[in-house]
Amino acid sequence: MSQQTALSVKDLKTYFYTNKRCNKAVNGVSFDIKKGSTLCIVGESGCGKSVTASTIMQLLPRLSRIEEGSITYNSDAGEIAIHELERDGAEMKRIRGSEIAMIFQDPMTALNPVYTIGFQIAESLQYHTDLNKSQIRARTIELLANMGIPSPEQRVDEYPHHYSGGMRQRAMIAMAMSCNPKILIADEPTTALDVTIQAQIFELMEKLKTENDTAIMLITHDMGVVAELADDVAVMYMGNIVEAGTVDDVLRRPRHPYTKALLESIPVLGRGRSQDIKSIRGATPDPYDRPKGCQFAPRCDFATDACNQMPAEEQLSDTHRVMCWQHEELKQNA
Ligand SMILES: Nc1ncnc2c1ncn2[C@@H]1O[C@H](COP(=O)(O)OP(=O)(O)OP(=O)(O)O)[C@@H](O)[C@H]1O
Ligand SMILES: [Mg+2]
Repeated sequence: MSQQTALSVKDLKTYFYTNKRCNKAVNGVSFDIKKGSTLCIVGESGCGKSVTASTIMQLLPRLSRIEEGSITYNSDAGEIAIHELERDGAEMKRIRGSEIAMIFQDPMTALNPVYTIGFQIAESLQYHTDLNKSQIRARTIELLANMGIPSPEQRVDEYPHHYSGGMRQRAMIAMAMSCNPKILIADEPTTALDVTIQAQIFELMEKLKTENDTAIMLITHDMGVVAELADDVAVMYMGNIVEAGTVDDVLRRPRHPYTKALLESIPVLGRGRSQDIKSIRGATPDPYDRPKGCQFAPRCDFATDACNQMPAEEQLSDTHRVMCWQHEELKQNA
């Protein structure tokens, strides 16, 4: 692995087993995240973004497991095969929350209702840093202040239910950032927040990235955020990455019909009100009743008979790859 790579995921498959049925939620996903860079993951609801994130954190629900593939973390002390670690083993506990931290889509996943916010942030600092008690208290208050929590000196001693939804979200972000992680996984971190707070949080993430060389995996629905923050982009559909590349490759020269459709389905800032916004027709398929070949084919304007077979992944350049039989068509269409 290159020294520049912080995290390398190879052919990862995570399946759910419920009522004797198997949901291939993540079905062969590969990507690298470089140190000090941001990979944005986009795609419609249910495509496997959060499951990919929980797999890296080894925080999968009991009914699911890593079926195949590898997750390699390039730590300062050498490469660590995350997929081989026990979910609740000492090594995984040491890494989780300190070297690899996650901002969850639902803040209550990470916050415990019976402890004060301050206690929970302090606990993480105590476990993962050498700070003494008064330094931990000061750092906790500083972290809350950084997140725009008003009167952090008082709020630090309140419980999660005293916080509004947006404040809980910010407290959890403070917790995730508290130990200057080497890898930060942020799952829709700012959906519930005002734009000014959102901008503040993205600024803190950028700071972490430049000052601490943190690699960031940012899951978002917001293409504006992608354009602003991403170095690289991966587009997911039904458990696969159907297109990936630099932000320029994917946003300016999309070669997968799904990426193109996603980009056409959002308004672009500065283009005024008369924009031609198209919704993507149809809905994502039932994961238990998948199309035979390309998963997007039934919704795709470019589909042909060839699409009855799963497309192979093609490398278009050093940085750009796509899974589509028709990608040449899109080149001409660009
Ligand atoms: N705890 C769970 N038990 C059973 N199936 C699950 C569970 N969590 C996720 N899944 C399934 O795994 C697939 C991927 O879900 P995931 O949560 O990763 O989607 P997502 O891309 O994060 O969507 P969203 O944008 O809505 O957050 C879906 O088919 C979903 O139903
Ligand atoms: Mg999700």
